[in-house]
Amino acid sequence: MSEIRIIRSLHEMISHAEELQKNGIRIGLVPTMGYLHEGHLSLVRLLDGHCDLKAASIFVNPIQFGPNEDLAKYPRNEVRDLELLEKEGCELVFAPSPEEMYPEDYQTYIEVELMSKTLCGRFRPDHFRGVATIVNRLFNLTRCSVAAFGLKDFQQAQVIKKMKRDLHLPVKLLFGETVREDDGLAMSSRNAYLDEEQRNLAGYIPKSLEWVSREANVAEQDSDCLRAGMEDILNTQPGIKIQYIEFVDPKTLDPVQIIDRKVQVLLAVYIGKTRLIDNIEIGPGSKMKPFKELTV
Ligand code: PAF
Repeated sequence: MSEIRIIRSLHEMISHAEELQKNGIRIGLVPTMGYLHEGHLSLVRLLDGHCDLKAASIFVNPIQFGPNEDLAKYPRNEVRDLELLEKEGCELVFAPSPEEMYPEDYQTYIEVELMSKTLCGRFRPDHFRGVATIVNRLFNLTRCSVAAFGLKDFQQAQVIKKMKRDLHLPVKLLFGETVREDDGLAMSSRNAYLDEEQRNLAGYIPKSLEWVSREANVAEQDSDCLRAGMEDILNTQPGIKIQYIEFVDPKTLDPVQIIDRKVQVLLAVYIGKTRLIDNIEIGPGSKMKPFKELTV
């Protein structure tokens, strides 16, 4: 296996990407904010067969964090990240500095207007503008032909899809299923913030999702009743504070009342100061596989 190449300068990234392109080498990119887990690594594997060179970016993007969010304490461990990426056969890592990415005179942003304002966007007003802007710039800087994203961030995935369509971006998008811990909790770099008690509470998130998936198939199809059932499960734990539970059309993210087709359920909760999100597809034809070892 060839040694992993780390590029930190924008100029070097562009000239290397141009060189690769000239030689007909198709780059596959997994954009990340680092502190990698199995979910990220599964995305690196998802690139297999879709490109000639697998790359990842590691960049904690300041403009997708709100003023009172966790930018300063976002977990970082670049040495470990590079080892993990190298083991997965990643040949290139782009890890620019915030100063180079956002010089003082930086002023261009991308906004996928309506989709960025619902769900998480109601509580994180500039978040998806920050995501769309950085993802577009990473596509441009790396000249990637294909890029992979996880479906744990379901709204982010739809925003990126819409940006690709609206701006005719010449990149193929791949989306990987959410990778879960044994109790069903979605893997996330932010799980590192949880202490043992909070980690146990977090197991109620997948419990509520598995419950709603089963219930929508066998009994109740009204989203208000299903939401109430999920709230009952989560509210048994005073340490969990629900921010939202929404039932939406998976493509448009518009609210859905009756579950008579495939519907996406998305939620955000706080456990202590940690905000966790998750989602599941429910309704006729949905492809829910039971999470491991869950009972409600
Ligand atoms: O999903 C993430 O880790 C980030 O939002 C992304 C796509 C790398 C953009 O900063």
